[in-house]
Amino acid sequence: MSGNPCPKFFNSMTHFNFFKKFRRLKPIEPLLTLFGFLFFVLGLYLFIFLLDYRTVDTTGSHLRGPSFFVTWFGLNDSSLLLKNSTSTSRNDEKVGFLENDCDIFDGNWVWDESYPLYQSEDCIFLDEGFRCSENGRPDNFYTKWRWQPKDCNLPRFDAKHMLEKLRNQRVVFVGDSIGRNQWESLLCLLSSAVSDNSSIYEVNGSPITKHTGSLIFKFKDYNCTVEYYRAPFLVLQSRPPSRAPGNVKMTLKLDQMDWSSAKWKDADLLIFNSGHWWNNEKTIRGGCYFQEGGKINMMMDVETAFQKSIVTLVDWIGREVNMSKTKIFFRTYSPVHFRGGDWKTGGSCHLETLPDLLSPQESLRNSFEYMTVIHVLSQLSNKSKARNMSLLNVTGMTSRRRDGHLSLYYLGPKVGPVSPHKQDCSHWCLPGVPDSWNELLYAILLKQELAQENISKSTSQSAE
Ligand SMILES: *[C@@H]1O[C@H](CO)[C@@H](O)[C@H](O)[C@H]1NC(C)=O
Ligand SMILES: *[C@@H]1O[C@H](CO)[C@@H](O)[C@H](O)[C@H]1NC(C)=O
Ligand SMILES: *[C@@H]1O[C@H](CO)[C@@H](O)[C@H](O)[C@H]1NC(C)=O
Ligand SMILES: *[C@@H]1O[C@H](CO)[C@@H](O)[C@H](O)[C@H]1NC(C)=O
Ligand SMILES: *[C@@H]1O[C@H](CO)[C@@H](O)[C@H](O)[C@H]1NC(C)=O
Ligand SMILES: *[C@@H]1O[C@H](CO)[C@@H](O)[C@H](O)[C@H]1NC(C)=O
Ligand SMILES: *[C@@H]1O[C@H](CO)[C@@H](O)[C@H](O)[C@H]1NC(C)=O
Ligand SMILES: *[C@@H]1O[C@H](CO)[C@@H](O)[C@H](O)[C@H]1NC(C)=O
Ligand SMILES: *[C@@H]1O[C@H](CO)[C@@H](O)[C@H](O)[C@H]1NC(C)=O
Repeated sequence: MSGNPCPKFFNSMTHFNFFKKFRRLKPIEPLLTLFGFLFFVLGLYLFIFLLDYRTVDTTGSHLRGPSFFVTWFGLNDSSLLLKNSTSTSRNDEKVGFLENDCDIFDGNWVWDESYPLYQSEDCIFLDEGFRCSENGRPDNFYTKWRWQPKDCNLPRFDAKHMLEKLRNQRVVFVGDSIGRNQWESLLCLLSSAVSDNSSIYEVNGSPITKHTGSLIFKFKDYNCTVEYYRAPFLVLQSRPPSRAPGNVKMTLKLDQMDWSSAKWKDADLLIFNSGHWWNNEKTIRGGCYFQEGGKINMMMDVETAFQKSIVTLVDWIGREVNMSKTKIFFRTYSPVHFRGGDWKTGGSCHLETLPDLLSPQESLRNSFEYMTVIHVLSQLSNKSKARNMSLLNVTGMTSRRRDGHLSLYYLGPKVGPVSPHKQDCSHWCLPGVPDSWNELLYAILLKQELAQENISKSTSQSAE
């Protein structure tokens, strides 16, 4: 969101332009071009080697911070840095996350050649709008970053194992289109382990299009469904009571859950998110006011209303959900990265090709969407069954990924890049950042399962 025209931005630009030109040259020039290219590469390598060498000299260690090579060019190539950089050699001194009490959301993004976990071309379920590479994005750097917790290692996402765990279960994502982003990521991750793509299908035959209220994909061989329900406010949006003031076109009933809640309250895994629609633009300015009981409160601000909606969520969980059956997650706010404006006023994230690896993490206190949820949960969760709700605390880690958004590449391969005035810096390219959220989800589920096994083991032992 901050406006810094950093030098690395221009560097990677020339980098790309070079390759673009290289491809466009006519066939009479190939030898000349080849020499030119080799010369360029040699120069680049020497330049980088020197820079990198200097970094080692001043910081004393390669492993500590990202090297210049990485920060300037978005690469972390083991052949150049003379060290192993594949996932087979994740920092050996760190223990697995199962053995210790590690905050898996505290860490950094590291370059990993073994990523992404799937290719968009291989995932027939993916919405056209998320297929950045196919829609013309020239770099694939954004697919190569793995989340590395500071004090432990994560297990690599194992789709077969995850599907086994989900056998006979319902996984449900409820929330806004960023939740849909994560849902589609999970569909692609899971389907990468299924060879027969006709064994995965939408139960009503609906195609993946942007505006459907709900979609239910079944993995037939596992009797498992992975579902998405669109409920951007989580609470109920409906027509105003008769005799409401004329400028009230809709109301959000802050004390009632979305009407679709009856359909998903019995799911085995529920993953909520909310936040992107809680602004004046998408509520009051459009004539959508806030209602409690029969009463519309014309003066209530969006922040207060959002807070009340989360209280309603927690109450509803306590009342309606059987927590012995249903595991609940709340995925915290996914930050946007519009530089120099917002989505309507030409804000930009185009040509961002690298995560923010160096600067300290932006304070989460500035995000009211994040703070509201954390605040309500810490206040209420003691009193409610909702204390068993887990957080997918992705706001901090995601704030460093300004490089991962759709930017110009969301209109499908036929249309190609859109005009730079209409950038999307809130949704994410796939494969990309939401895959990491799902890897964390996978890790937490593994850990919960092991803890559960521990408990049943110790109780069966004491019973003997
Ligand atoms: C480069 O990759 C290695 C291994 O994946 C990792 O340990 C290191 O931190 C990475 N460097 C950066 C700057 O991401
Ligand atoms: C890379 O790792 C392998 C085994 O994990 C090891 O045998 C090899 O020496 C390592 N290479 C370097 C350059 O560290
Ligand atoms: C499939 O899963 C559902 C629960 O999601 C369960 O009710 C049903 O019995 C399962 N069917 C089979 C054949 O196991
Ligand atoms: C399933 O995959 C095959 C190739 O693996 C492909 O030819 C076919 O079109 C896919 N089916 C659907 C419904 O897309
Ligand atoms: C809650 O779920 C558990 C496990 O599925 C089941 O045994 C129990 O009967 C359920 N409780 C209620 C009140 O439905
Ligand atoms: C919640 O309960 C824990 C112990 O059960 C206690 O330490 C904590 O202070 C409580 N928090 C609030 C906000 O009441
Ligand atoms: C919360 O989870 C723990 C174990 O994870 C379980 O023992 C406890 O019964 C759960 N509480 C509720 C209210 O479901
Ligand atoms: C969420 O993660 C951030 C780091 O990104 C950390 O500062 C914060 O304390 C975490 N919040 C909770 C509730 O665990
Ligand atoms: C399971 O129990 C063992 C010892 O009883 C303990 O060392 C380990 O940390 C436990 N694992 C989990 C995930 O709770």
